[in-house]
Formats: sequence, C-alpha cells, structure tokens
Amino acid sequence: MSDKAQLHIGDQSFDLPAIEGTEGEKAIDISKLRDQSGYVTLDVGYKNTGATKSAITFLDGEKGILKYRGYPIEQLAEKSSFIEVAYLLIYGELPSEQQLHNFEYEISHHTLVHEDMKKFFDGFPSKSHPMGQLSSLIGALAAFNPESLKSGLTADAVNLEIIKLIAKMSTIVSWIYKKSLGHPVIYPWNKYDYVTNFLHMTFGQRTEDYTPDPVVVSAMNTLLILHADHEQNCSTSTVRIVGSSDANLYASISAGISALWGPLHGGANQAVIEMLEQIKADGGDTDKFIAKAKDKNDPFRLMGFGHRVYKNFDPRAKIIKKACDDILAKLGVQDEVLDIAKRLEEVALQDSYFVERKLYPNVDFYSGIIYRALGFPTEMFTVLFALGRLPGWIAQWKEMKENKEPIGRPRQIYVGATNRDYTEINNR
Ligand code: ACO
Repeated sequence: MSDKAQLHIGDQSFDLPAIEGTEGEKAIDISKLRDQSGYVTLDVGYKNTGATKSAITFLDGEKGILKYRGYPIEQLAEKSSFIEVAYLLIYGELPSEQQLHNFEYEISHHTLVHEDMKKFFDGFPSKSHPMGQLSSLIGALAAFNPESLKSGLTADAVNLEIIKLIAKMSTIVSWIYKKSLGHPVIYPWNKYDYVTNFLHMTFGQRTEDYTPDPVVVSAMNTLLILHADHEQNCSTSTVRIVGSSDANLYASISAGISALWGPLHGGANQAVIEMLEQIKADGGDTDKFIAKAKDKNDPFRLMGFGHRVYKNFDPRAKIIKKACDDILAKLGVQDEVLDIAKRLEEVALQDSYFVERKLYPNVDFYSGIIYRALGFPTEMFTVLFALGRLPGWIAQWKEMKENKEPIGRPRQIYVGATNRDYTEINNR
C-alpha cells in the first residue's frame, strides 16, 4: 500500500499520509488538511472517523472479531476472570500470579467508601434511576479524593486512583441496589474475590453468611468480561474527550456513565426487557411487533437488535447466548418474557428486513435476559454494564493521557443565518 493518498479539489491536489494499523485497518490522516487546503472533513456521528490510535481493543464488525490486547474474547470469556481481564486492559499484559494477587489484594483493601457518601443516597428520591445515582456518586468520589484533582500526578498516584475507583464502584453499585429496596447496605468483605464480594454486597443479608451459587458467579464474570471494553464507542469516546481537558479520572468516568445511560447505547439492555414486557402486556404477538419495527412511520425499534459496527454478528452475543441458555437451564427459570424473547429472536433472524440490514441480536439482547434470571431489577441492568465497562474506560483514559493527546475539539460546518441586524422587540 502506498504511504500517501491524494485528494483533488478543483485544480489543486493535496498529499495526505495513509496509515495502516497492526490488524490492517487503513486510514487517511487528515489532521493537517485544513492548514493545507482550508477544508475540514464532515462525518456526523463519526461513522467513518478514527479519533485515536489505540492498542487496547480490536474489533472487526464485518468478520465478528473482538480482541482485548490481542487476546480473542472467546478465550478470555472461557478462561479468565473479570479482574484478570481488567489488569490486561489497563496495564497491557496478562498478569503473573504475583501481579494478579497484588492487584486483587489492593482492590479488596480499597472497597470501603467514605461513610459521608451515604448522605448522598439519602438525598436521592427512592425511585430515582440507578444510572443517575451512579454517575453522581462516581463524580462525587473526586470530592473525597481531592489529591486526584492535581495536574501532573505520578504514575503511582494515578494507579492508586485507578485501584480505588475499581474497588469502590462495586460497593457503590451494590449499595444503589440495596437502597432501592430500602434495605440496609452490606459492607464489603475482603476475603471474597471481586465478583463474589459484589454478589455478597448485592444479594447478601447482614444476618447470615452468603455463598453465591457458582453458576451465578461464573455468569457474572462472563458478563463483566464481555462488557469490559469495546474501543471508541459513545461512552468511551466521552471518557477520552472529557479526560483530554485534564479533567480528573472520576469526572471523566462519571461522564462516560451518563453517555452509557442512553437506550441507543448501554440503556438498551433495560429497553429490551421493557419492550418484551410491552409485547407480553399486549398479548404476546411477536409478529405484530416485528411489523411495527419494519414500519418506517412507526418509531418502534426492536431493542437489542442492530449495532453500529457489527454487521455480521456480535461475537459477544454468541458467547452470551450460550451463557444465557446454560443459566436459564441450570436455574430452571420459567418466564413468559423469556419465551417471547426466544420467539422474537427466531422470527427476526429469518425476516428479510433484518437479514438485509444485517440486524442481529446484540449483546444487550441476551444480557438483559440473564440479569433478569439472576434476580436483578430492570433498572439495574445498565449499571451492571457500567461495572463491566469500567476497566475499559480506565484503560482508554490512561492511554489517552500517556499518549499526551490534545484536547478533543471537533470542527463544524456552520449552516445557520449569516449577518442579521438586531431589531427591537416591539418591531418583530
Ligand atoms: N429495529 C428496526 N430497524 C432497525 C433497527 C432496529 N433495532 N436498528 C436499525 N434499524 C434499521 C434502520 O431503520 C435503518 O433502516 P433503513 O436503512 O431502511 O433506513 C437501518 O436499519 C440502519 O439503521 P441505523 O440506525 O442507520 O444504524 P446505526 O448504525 O446508526 O444504529 C443502532 C445502530 C443505534 C444500534 C441501531 O441498530 C438501534 O437503534 N438498535 C436498537 C438499540 C440497541 O439495541 N442499541 C444497543 C447497541 S449495542 C451497545 O451499545 C452495547
């Protein structure tokens, strides 16, 4: 491949560097184009724009490939633990036994949150959405860790904030759940691994020891691993762009949580179950809702179907579908909503509208079903997605800092009114 591209505009021509990533992805570097020619590029929604060079996650949407730091997601989901994957994403290599032990030890010894944080919980209305709470509480952690606000922190100081954030996130997520029930919060217990500790704080009681079902621990590990990173999606790009202003780690992650909340992104897992409930309440006629999804005059979309980059299949959905079948069988769950989900999946996979547009069930279609089977309320689903995505956000934030990337600041093409003279209000 030539190392430059040529752009012709009128009778002028401009040389632009062509670059290639390690997996053969090709790009034209237009960063100097405006200085050279006066032109910017326009790409609303960044559908064809690379915002960075990253060494964390590779995905090929056409071939259905996803790898973290070069390791296929299938291998990690089968053999690894969430905390090991978090280490891999953040530090770039699989940990040795000692490194993993130290990482787990550090995390388990930072899981307590400041008691004053509890006052925030008291301030939220009892029915407030868990994602709103999570983004506020993670932002508030900066107030309890003022040293994180300093510019030019050493690598060790940054690392300490990373450890604290991973540790406290699971405590905060489980406390949001407990508070939604009006139950007392359960404190972390250092003897447990990360996922067991999270389940202990979420489903445990104060009065007795809690031993989660190994099937549940394994399903949680798989779900968290599958969500741990997904390169430059909406929330990750948000984290990087907020961090690029030198905003602290907590503020950057809090912004990412807000971006994840939307139903077109992480909020889809909640939207899937709400859609299935809607179909059930309407009598369970899946054909009717497939027809609605295909009708351009109807705003209804099949939630959990389609993906911006996967146009073949979502490799995470393949893994999770199996986990979903296993867990439903092992827990012996009978649920009409889940039957509707299976019918919908079967019909949509054969319908030409969905086949032609390459609309396949995405990870959120199945994750919502598993979370429901595990006993989580629907509104917690996106919070669980955030818990899984945290290491990816941190890794991307850290990479952006280490690359010394400039502040993110897109251009625009202005299409509004040009010069107008102000008129007094009584003359309008
Ligand atoms: N149901 C019905 N039709 C759909 C759906 C759907 N879920 N998704 C896309 N389409 C149709 C569009 O109407 C469009 O049809 P047209 O070409 O006839 O106009 C075509 O498929 C392409 O859709 P776009 O919206 O242009 O695709 P885009 O890449 O911009 O959007 C998105 C991807 C947002 C994921 C979309 O498929 C969607 O809204 N899905 C439902 C929400 C969802 O599940 N989101 C989770 C994504 S995964 C994640 O964030 C972890």
